[in-house]
Amino acid sequence: MRIGILTAGGDCPGLNAVIRGAGRRLLREGHEPIGLRRGYRGLAHADHMTLDHPALSGLLPMGGTILSTSSYDPFRHDDGPQRVRDAMARKDVDAVIAIGGEHTMEITRELHAQLDLPVVGVPKTIDNDIVGTDRTFGFDTAVHVATEAIDRLHSTAQSHDRVMVVEVMGRNAGWIAVMAGIAGGADGILVPEVDVTVEELAANIRRRHDRGKDFSIIVVSEGARLAFADGSSRKVRASDDTDEYGYERLGGIGAALAKELEEATGYETRVVVLGHIQRGGTPTASDRILATRYGVAAADAVLDGAFGTMVALDGSEITRIPLSDVVGVKPVDLRLLELAKTFF
Ligand code: F6P
Repeated sequence: MRIGILTAGGDCPGLNAVIRGAGRRLLREGHEPIGLRRGYRGLAHADHMTLDHPALSGLLPMGGTILSTSSYDPFRHDDGPQRVRDAMARKDVDAVIAIGGEHTMEITRELHAQLDLPVVGVPKTIDNDIVGTDRTFGFDTAVHVATEAIDRLHSTAQSHDRVMVVEVMGRNAGWIAVMAGIAGGADGILVPEVDVTVEELAANIRRRHDRGKDFSIIVVSEGARLAFADGSSRKVRASDDTDEYGYERLGGIGAALAKELEEATGYETRVVVLGHIQRGGTPTASDRILATRYGVAAADAVLDGAFGTMVALDGSEITRIPLSDVVGVKPVDLRLLELAKTFF
């Protein structure tokens, strides 16, 4: 069989380890893995690359994806579905392994349901918010990067008696903020799942100062809301607006929160937005292992004909779940947020 492997959506540490895991398993079983470049675009536009032994060598520690990625959705292009049908009719591939996030799993589910594409999904996001799996690869690396940043910010915050607001990724869920907040000893955490008012945060910071701690570290997910005691709240997105010169306004929730906290507490406040640093570079050992397990499991699912499924982690076991179950966002475990609050 010729099996196409693609990576779609945002990149994530461990993508290459999945490609290597799936590719090597398929080669060993006598099949031909090929790379579909830039996500589903590569399938629709016959943009392929060879995945032989040399191509699959040296991938384990590499960040990014050798296949490149895009958010191409065949259903958002008039000719997209027909292009996929043509690719299947031409026998470009006998099956597809699609490595991607929530949107990719949605596309994958529909390609399987509507066009009968033989496809297996692999869950990917640093945000760890895909329904149906306990972990996504890339998450551990992102938490590691954010924790190291918090550690480094501690010493400078302490030296200057400052409040440091650290904005981490997490558009829809607060997993990175909570886990890095626990690991880094944050003094406040804001996530999309729960509103915490500026007044409440300011009161905590003042209490710390009264206890003799003249600095604070506040970790905020990019998708958290800015909330106030009068019940008002709003999302603050980077590039919500343009300024008088037509430049995009760069500050997101981190910048807005820093400004509000400085006004509310009178303490000098700075903001650090970690952004794509959390997604770049080499995966941690734990992510390499999970990515390798997912890659091999996805190849096995293809060889078993288990199409329309996504490989997943259930406890310590790798399982397969129907793509139809992969709907929505997996919110952060609020018990972990409660744990973190012990130390605020
Ligand atoms: O989905 C993962 C994620 O890290 C989100 O938390 C973030 O909003 C998004 O990627 C940003 O991705 P990009 O800048 O590539 O659109």
